[in-house]
Amino acid sequence: MEGEESLSVLIVDQDAASRNYLSVMLRRAGYTVLTAPSAREGLISIWRDLPALAIFDPALADMPAVEMVRRLRQDRRTERMPLVALSSRENAEEMNALLSAGCNDYLVKSGQTVPQLLQLIPRLLRQQTDVKKGGYLVVFLSAKGGTGTSSLCANVAMCLGKNKPDASVVVADMVLPIGSIASIVGYNDRLNLISVAMQSPDLITARYFKEHLPKINEWYFRLLAGSPDPDVANQLPGDRLGPVVSGLQEAFDYVFIDLGRSLSRLSLPIILHADVLALVLSTEMASVTLTQTVWSYLQAQGVDSRRVYAILNRAVGLEGLTKAEAEQMLNLPIQYAMPYMGGNFSLANNRHEPVATKFPLDAATLTLNQMADQIADLAQRLRRGG
Ligand SMILES: Nc1ncnc2c1ncn2[C@@H]1O[C@H](COP(=O)(O)OP(=O)(O)OP(=O)(O)O)[C@@H](O)[C@H]1O
Ligand SMILES: [Mg+2]
Repeated sequence: MEGEESLSVLIVDQDAASRNYLSVMLRRAGYTVLTAPSAREGLISIWRDLPALAIFDPALADMPAVEMVRRLRQDRRTERMPLVALSSRENAEEMNALLSAGCNDYLVKSGQTVPQLLQLIPRLLRQQTDVKKGGYLVVFLSAKGGTGTSSLCANVAMCLGKNKPDASVVVADMVLPIGSIASIVGYNDRLNLISVAMQSPDLITARYFKEHLPKINEWYFRLLAGSPDPDVANQLPGDRLGPVVSGLQEAFDYVFIDLGRSLSRLSLPIILHADVLALVLSTEMASVTLTQTVWSYLQAQGVDSRRVYAILNRAVGLEGLTKAEAEQMLNLPIQYAMPYMGGNFSLANNRHEPVATKFPLDAATLTLNQMADQIADLAQRLRRGG
């Protein structure tokens, strides 16, 4: 940070030892550090000194931390300031309350706190200035195969398209090396992600997408089908997905992207750019453990937990972890649990029919509709800066 004016960070912590330790470490990393021992003094310092970012331990004697976050979010000066909770104990309830009040991230104090913060701070600051434009970008990601990511992506997008007849919706299958949404919705033509992305970048425009992407009957969206086979996928140059995503965002109001479990150099920029990251996990221990790894990686890359919409999909039946257990392990609130549909989900997929059309009275249809509404609301709310 030499040569630049150093950024200031405020630490609010009523524990003097913890406050001092963190200030020394952050000063050493080049930040100007301000400290406050209570919520009230924290608020005074934040509004007077306007630090770039504030870190606070939620254990504050003079005010519930949630109340402090709410006040900051209600004030124009701090409605977008990155706020990081740094708790001394893991507490899912506290975390849910703080994140829904508008806190950007929730970390638990550990030996890794300083390196975690040193990665997180610059990224949160960068994200804050990354003004999102164009259609809302909703990315579906999972940490383990077969958790229902593609089925949920297609069906939630369908409900959104149906519930918002004035909005245009597109689904792009970016699972490499082979996509599967085309087979879920019954699209057999040849236009696909690879054939589009291999064109010269100046042909990949909003107009091209509006003119060429097929409307899928009954699904209320347009489709950019996925890669048809690994051979062609391997020919895809690394810099081509970006222009495809921006072209889609320019052309449509909602862009749903199925990334499957492809967390890679190619997909990370798309994830970082998303308005909402729908993280799909199942109730199996292996799925939750892998999601834990993926989530800590994404958190370190600066993905703001307010953008994460975690879905617990009971793709394997009723056994496995509960929602509360999964939340506790992940340190992340789970917004929705998708009910187990037995063979019905596969049946609808095999017939290329949306669940909402095939089983309109099933609890799953209600869930899918609510997820679609909540995802759209979240995307809109975050763009408004709330
Ligand atoms: N809630 C559910 N109830 C019953 N079956 C489900 C449920 N969710 C998904 N399935 C079934 O699980 C299977 C896998 O779904 P899907 O292909 O969408 O998963 P995926 O995560 O995209 O997998 P992949 O890793 O292959 O991309 C499908 O047969 C689907 O019908
Ligand atoms: Mg899939």
